[in-house]
Amino acid sequence: MARTITFATLFAAVNYAFAAPWKGEVKKVGGATYQCKCYSDNSCWPTNADWNALNKTVDGALQVAVPPGAACHKSFENSTVSVYNKAACAEVQANWINEQWLTDHPIANLWPLYTNNTCLPNDDPSTPCTRGFYGRYVVLAKTKEHIKAGIDFARERNLRLIIRNTGHDFMGRSTGFGSLIINTHSFKDVSFLKTYSGPGNWTGSAAVVGAGVQGRELFRQAFAQKPPVVIVGGECPTVGWAGGYIQGGGHGPLTSIYGMGADNVLAFDAVTVDGEYVTANAKENSDLFWALKGGGPSTFAVVVSITVKTFPEVPTAGTIININSTHTNDSAVFNKGFHIFHNLANHYVDNGMFVYFEVGPGPGRLHIAPLVGPKMDEKKLNEVLKPLFDQLDAAKIPHDRHTRAFPTFFEFYIDMFEDEQPNQNSIVGGRLFTRKDIDDGADEVADAILFASGNPTKDRIGFSVGHIVDPGHGVPYADNAINDKWRKSSSFVITNVIMSGLESWEEKKQLEDVQTNVVGKRLREAGPDGATYVNEGDLNEPNWQHSYWGDKYPRLLEIRKKWDAKGVLYTKTTPGTEDWDVLDQGTKLCRKVS
Ligand SMILES: Cc1cc2nc3c(=O)[nH]c(=O)nc-3n(C[C@H](O)[C@H](O)[C@H](O)COP(=O)(O)OP(=O)(O)OC[C@H]3O[C@@H](n4cnc5c(N)ncnc54)[C@H](O)[C@@H]3O)c2cc1C
Ligand SMILES: *[C@@H]1O[C@H](CO)[C@@H](O)[C@H](O)[C@H]1NC(C)=O
Ligand SMILES: *[C@@H]1O[C@H](CO)[C@@H](O)[C@H](O)[C@H]1NC(C)=O
Ligand SMILES: *[C@@H]1O[C@H](CO)[C@@H](O)[C@H](O)[C@H]1NC(C)=O
Ligand SMILES: *[C@@H]1O[C@H](CO)[C@@H](O)[C@H](O)[C@H]1NC(C)=O
Ligand SMILES: *[C@@H]1O[C@H](CO)[C@@H](O)[C@H](O)[C@H]1NC(C)=O
Ligand SMILES: *[C@@H]1O[C@H](CO)[C@@H](O)[C@H](O)[C@H]1NC(C)=O
Repeated sequence: MARTITFATLFAAVNYAFAAPWKGEVKKVGGATYQCKCYSDNSCWPTNADWNALNKTVDGALQVAVPPGAACHKSFENSTVSVYNKAACAEVQANWINEQWLTDHPIANLWPLYTNNTCLPNDDPSTPCTRGFYGRYVVLAKTKEHIKAGIDFARERNLRLIIRNTGHDFMGRSTGFGSLIINTHSFKDVSFLKTYSGPGNWTGSAAVVGAGVQGRELFRQAFAQKPPVVIVGGECPTVGWAGGYIQGGGHGPLTSIYGMGADNVLAFDAVTVDGEYVTANAKENSDLFWALKGGGPSTFAVVVSITVKTFPEVPTAGTIININSTHTNDSAVFNKGFHIFHNLANHYVDNGMFVYFEVGPGPGRLHIAPLVGPKMDEKKLNEVLKPLFDQLDAAKIPHDRHTRAFPTFFEFYIDMFEDEQPNQNSIVGGRLFTRKDIDDGADEVADAILFASGNPTKDRIGFSVGHIVDPGHGVPYADNAINDKWRKSSSFVITNVIMSGLESWEEKKQLEDVQTNVVGKRLREAGPDGATYVNEGDLNEPNWQHSYWGDKYPRLLEIRKKWDAKGVLYTKTTPGTEDWDVLDQGTKLCRKVS
């Protein structure tokens, strides 16, 4: 008997063809129902033929994602095929704290907590290597067509999609269990323009910067121009510039004179989650333009390149100060020294300065390296810092200090900034203190930072990285997604609760609780007018929407719904992710459906 096609069967067929095959598991957690992305243990996971087809579309740029430490282990994911290689293992071990080597790797994350501390390059090849929270496949994209192909595949197959530039993110947002990764590291092109003629009111010089360009290499190319120019970027040489940095806002040593990184962006070229190539600038897609400047990484679109203002080089001077156990073991003396230094935060930013400092436990270790004086020579910087030097000397705080001046910012930057050390274990948090917070209670703020950097609990030590910076100082107001609190900021601190890396899941949760509810609580109390920074903050920040974006959050939520309603992109604590959760101990990404 011939079958009659009814609307109902047609509807069912359509539904099957477009939705059902790519639905992941349904999970019930605490009374809520979740619909998950597709993972390798689900029938909706792509077949080998599907992966091969994707590989063809991306001209062979698809690779199986293999953790960097795999070469040190005889078994990888229960595979009988050994990936062990003595020489390759020695290379990984030698480069485990080499930032450039790690950022060049297809999938390495610089903070092992976010890989579940898995497959470490240890000396015992008999220990197995498992993927932990690393992804499954990676597209080493060379063209924007490759980026589009990766996005389309992940969207159509309902896969977790990760955009990975350098793997530097303190909040683990370039790593994801079971994901398809798009690596943007190859997008290294930079070109410089003498005059910009696109939309907006800028007619000065500019640069077009590829998504994979890193801080120091960008600064170096800007310096090579005739005449040399500068671009606002971060202090770290290997952090990406056009990825997470700009999409989170981006502070840096020139911020007090030229604004935040994102304030200077003139246009984005991007691929949307629907796989469309778009330009976002003051005229075209202006909502996307606004949101990509500080609204959160991996949230609105995948950036391919950015056009940004460049500025004239400036002479720059810097001062380095140390107070540590070579100078004193008396913590009262140390604390007094820290107060003297930090209580002057508003004074530094009033003078257009930026300050980078590290403070750690014990009797105390303060490394201020450096205090940055853009547009200053040695005499001018010493004059501005006279109140600091006078107070340290009057209070007899033992310390060492030296000041040096350079004809350009770039020469200063290369000489006086230091590289950081990756592959350390800690839970990160932080707070932005405003000028009002310092005016109202500089001592409370200094005490809170010392508390976070000492022993926040009996059995735990902390460590903090501070930045004294004010992008509102003498810089015209830029309308973008960056929290307005930045325009009144004075001191921004990143706090760490130090871990061993061997903790169980439950112990990690307890340490997160220390960061959020012991350290974070103290910081919030000391800085009630303050806020938090989306790129360097606590993933469990209470009321994160307001804390990260203030009054700008509702508009960001609308823009997210317009450009990525389905949740093709995801990173925790970014606009519009309220219904999403990573379940099953940090593995499966699922959306709450009821
Ligand atoms: C040592 C160190 C120093 C730092 N110094 C500073 C500083 O001076 N100033 C400052 O503001 N911040 C600083 N940061 C924080 C930094 O801005 C963030 O970690 C930022 O997310 C890094 O971006 P990335 O693209 O290099 O990293 P990744 O880890 O590769 O990516 C970070 C996030 O951005 C997303 N992303 C990357 N590329 C794209 C793209 N093309 N399109 C869409 N999404 C993308 C990723 O998916 C991820 O969510 C520092 C971080 C470290 C570790
Ligand atoms: C993709 O194709 C390239 C080139 O043919 C090949 O080297 C690579 O192994 C393929 N990737 C996967 C995941 O099969
Ligand atoms: C590896 O094998 C063990 C024991 O058979 C099993 O429990 C585990 O799930 C396997 N892991 C993977 C990643 O396949
Ligand atoms: C993560 O690490 C914990 C603790 O070692 C372990 O129990 C868990 O199975 C790991 N998860 C994955 C996905 O590797
Ligand atoms: C450019 O300047 C005009 C006139 O001052 C102003 O109305 C307009 O808003 C400016 N446009 C942008 C994008 O800043
Ligand atoms: C302490 O300061 C001195 C400079 O006086 C420096 O050489 C040394 O590395 C510092 N020690 C620590 C532990 O930071
Ligand atoms: C502080 O203590 C350390 C370790 O005992 C010692 O090496 C150092 O000399 C002491 N510093 C001072 C200033 O006494």
